Order: sequence, then structure tokens, then C-alpha cells
Amino acid sequence: MKYTLAFDVYGTLINTSGVYNSLEKLIGEQAKLFMETWRNKQLEYSFKRGIMNKYVDFSVCTKDSLNYCCEVFKTDLNKAQIDSLMDEYSVLPTFPDVDTELKKLKKSGHRLFAFSNGSEKAVSNLLTNANIIERFDGIISVENIKTFKPNPLVYKHFNTETNSTKSDSWLISSNPFDVIGAISYGMRSAWVQRSPDSIFDPWGIEPTTIINKLTDLSSKLEMNE
Ligand code: 2OP
Repeated sequence: MKYTLAFDVYGTLINTSGVYNSLEKLIGEQAKLFMETWRNKQLEYSFKRGIMNKYVDFSVCTKDSLNYCCEVFKTDLNKAQIDSLMDEYSVLPTFPDVDTELKKLKKSGHRLFAFSNGSEKAVSNLLTNANIIERFDGIISVENIKTFKPNPLVYKHFNTETNSTKSDSWLISSNPFDVIGAISYGMRSAWVQRSPDSIFDPWGIEPTTIINKLTDLSSKLEMNE
């Protein structure tokens, strides 16, 4: 069966810890906890804004959460350093397993879309810089409906924009909240458990399948036809 595949971007295709090295140079051993807090707060701000109907470009959540972390960790980063970290966030690397699998899925006849909280422009820049933009049939951003994942409206938006249905589409994501959102909406979803330490939220809503690397996806799609 040929599917329409929605690939989450940050943390699934794109390795957000790419900023880690610069951060470590700037703030030393706090970098790991700073990075984790930054990511969690970025998502927390998107959840809150979705519920409040106070949509902003996802990059604003990224910037505001970075400023929050500077206060929490009492780092004296100046404007130039903060701007530089934000610039790095817009040109992050892919995980090593990504390009091979995207090529294989495309060759198998599936339709591939990047699907993100990020704006179409931001995601296009990211994927172009990472040399994988050509693997996709398109980019679907939540910006057009002005809310964020895991609102069920974003998954419906994906199906509408790609002329797909719940039964012929999958969400592929390393973010448990995103997988839970897609399953709850009615799509199938593969959780990319990129680290053995990653915990899936114990909500009683389980992924359709779990993979540790993207290169396991093709076989799992065949098994779930
Ligand atoms: C996304 O790319 C935030 O990882 C999430 O939509």
C-alpha cells in the first residue's frame, strides 16, 4: 500500500542538539540542561498559545524560551550571542539515518511531506540547508490554521492539504506528544525512539509502531498494511 507520510521535523528529521556545541562553548557544563529546558519550554509555549488562541510564528516560541532559559540559568549571553544561537537553530543538521530512508520510501512510491509547527519558510530553509528538501512532495505547516500540535485540527489540516485520509496517512515523529495527538485524531503513527532513555507518556494511547531509527520504517509500514 502506498501511504502519505507526515514527517515531524525538529527532533525527528533534524537534530536540535546541533546547537549544543555552541552553547557548551558559551556556558560550559550547564549546556545539556539548558538545551533540554529550552526545548521543553519552547514546546510548552506552543501548547499554551494553542489553547489560548494566541498563535505566533513558532520561532517566537523558540526565542522566548531561549530568553527564559537565559534568566533561569543566569547566563549573561548578550544580544549577538542570542541571535547567533537563533541563527544556528535555523540551520541544524539531519540525523544520519534520514536521507537514506527518505530516498527508499520515495522509491517505494510513498508520498513524503515535512509536517511541522515551524513556518513553511523556516522548514524550507532547514531542509534546503540539510540537503533533503528534494526528498519531499511538500511542506505542511500549522501556520495556515494558526494553532499548534497536538491540536487535532493540525492533523486534519495535513490530510486536507495533502488530499489524504486518516487511513492512508502516517505521522512519523520522535515527539510522544505529537504521536499521541495523531493517534488521538485517528491517524496511524510511528514513534521514532531515538534514545533508549526517551520515555513515551503513559497515557494509555500507544504508537502504532516504535522504531529506533528511521531506516526501520519501511518494513514497519509493510507489516501494518
Ligand atoms: C515540529 O517540528 C515541534 O518537532 C515539532 O512540529
